[in-house]
Amino acid sequence: MPILGKEWYKGSRVNKHQPLMLYEDISHGCERFAVPVFSNPTFFMDTLVFDTFKYTSRIIDNTGSLASRSATPTFVCRCAGQCSKHCECSSGVYGAGGTVEDMDQLMWDTVRECNENCECALWCGNRVAQKGAMHPVEIFARDPWCGWGVRASVDIPFGTFVGEYTGELIDDEEATDRHDSTFLFETRVGSESLTIDAKYSGNYTRFINHSCSPNVKVANVSWDYDEIQLIHMCFYTDKLIKKGEELTIDYGEAWWTNKKFACMCGSAECRYKAKNKKFG
Ligand SMILES: C[S@@+](CC[C@H](N)C(=O)[O-])C[C@H]1O[C@@H](n2cnc3c(N)ncnc32)[C@H](O)[C@@H]1O
Ligand SMILES: [Zn+2]
Ligand SMILES: [Zn+2]
Ligand SMILES: [Zn+2]
Repeated sequence: MPILGKEWYKGSRVNKHQPLMLYEDISHGCERFAVPVFSNPTFFMDTLVFDTFKYTSRIIDNTGSLASRSATPTFVCRCAGQCSKHCECSSGVYGAGGTVEDMDQLMWDTVRECNENCECALWCGNRVAQKGAMHPVEIFARDPWCGWGVRASVDIPFGTFVGEYTGELIDDEEATDRHDSTFLFETRVGSESLTIDAKYSGNYTRFINHSCSPNVKVANVSWDYDEIQLIHMCFYTDKLIKKGEELTIDYGEAWWTNKKFACMCGSAECRYKAKNKKFG
């Protein structure tokens, strides 16, 4: 039985129709949970993307191989079992149970997790995002303007890691050359920038829509060692997200520059709706 969320058409004369499950698992088993896709019976949505786009849970290069960048100094700890908050690897953001306790601290600097050369256990509490998302989500036809969106299939507590933005790692030059900036996600680490394009390959996070009052925050996290030292753009809930609620992030000012459409997030604090937005 498909899961019914708070559909936008609730209360309309067509609400007797059930959304259909169009795909059982677009991750093809890459995630810990199936990622289904649900239609909305009141409008048509093109499903071509699910047949053409390549699902990947890694950051890859243009050949599809795991992307690599030059190494930057990494901490390695010699803790046994569980690392303490004072361990040199720990940024101190994760509390017991692997959830984030202080959102401001998460956003402040790169979060360091333990890496493969650390001697602590795999169950060390400083290994969170590297293990992948644990809470199931699903893709749904949100509305004709925003298109597809992502919603929670279960209640997801505050401070929970819910996914990493994956796709193709591209350099600055390539990013300016790409004609479609829709799925470009950029972050800065010091003077370096890192851009991922999830247009052709990525995971369910590329379907997360923008809201001016988002319930998910994005942070830079590192857990690779040596050759494949990369910063990962990781998503954490900033509120308790109830089953059926949409997950949203703030795409940021730069993303909205030059976009020819207005924001449809519906928030009272919307910054990019038609009357606020300077088009072009
Ligand atoms: C990264 S994609 C998100 C997934 C997208 N909804 C889809 O169907 O593939 C970004 C695109 O989603 C739509 N979108 C996301 N958030 C929106 C918002 N708040 N208002 C209007 N459109 C939005 C826009 O078309 C935007 O270019
Ligand atoms: Zn340690
Ligand atoms: Zn550790
Ligand atoms: Zn908005």
